[in-house]
Amino acid sequence: MEVIVLPTAADVDMRAADVVAAQVSRRSDTVLGVATGSSPLGTYRELARRQHEGELDLTRISCFALDEYVGLPVGHPACYASVLERELARPFGLPKGRVRVPDGSRPDLERACCDYEEAIARSGGIDLQILGIGANGHIGFNEPTSSLSSRTRVKALSAQTRLDNARFFDDPADVPTHCLTQGLDTILEARRVLLVAQGEHKADAVAAAVEGPVSAMCPASVLQFHRAVTVVVDEAAAAGLALTDYYRFVADAEHRLRQEDA
Ligand code: GLP
Repeated sequence: MEVIVLPTAADVDMRAADVVAAQVSRRSDTVLGVATGSSPLGTYRELARRQHEGELDLTRISCFALDEYVGLPVGHPACYASVLERELARPFGLPKGRVRVPDGSRPDLERACCDYEEAIARSGGIDLQILGIGANGHIGFNEPTSSLSSRTRVKALSAQTRLDNARFFDDPADVPTHCLTQGLDTILEARRVLLVAQGEHKADAVAAAVEGPVSAMCPASVLQFHRAVTVVVDEAAAAGLALTDYYRFVADAEHRLRQEDA
């Protein structure tokens, strides 16, 4: 696992955008896994800026969302299909249909989950999965005690997650109780993973994910099994890490190597 600790949240946005841009430069029709929530928004905005300034062409990528609420009416401003249309598809200039989201409005939710897995497989699989992390260590909506080998499925949201996400709804009681989420095993199939976190409220979750034991109590810790994970955090989110000096040493050494190669 590569851990990059940067001074500010704005630095996290820039570095995460660099990782995505490098992937898209390697493969213009990259399949991107995209998270919602606040954590990746700055990254999306920086990518949109680069696209706008002609530094990057994102128009050939396609995207798969991590998750979606169950039962929100189509077009509800807080549903992830709407959020990704607003924050990503439109600013990136993606044609319709290029951002797919699990369909939480279908009567047969099990089928919706299977169809979603099939769509990911048909696309050739996710090249780069962008993740945030919940304060309780969830990724996607895989709450603590999620099976480490789970696939896309219906999940009940924890009280903490519903509280954390109440800010996106007029009334906290409107936060849905259930969601569809890619499973932990689905996420592990992405070829690369980029996790971003900012702020002290993420410090415990980041420490447990990166340095704690692999445990269903911290679903993000399953990423320790993945071969190509980059974690980009600001100092506040890194506050609980024990090995920050080591991560900085590794990052500096790699920077020096890249300069020597150039
Ligand atoms: C949300 C989303 C996750 C997100 C996480 C953290 O509920 N389902 O995909 O990464 O929780 O959210 P935030 O980035 O707003 O802190």
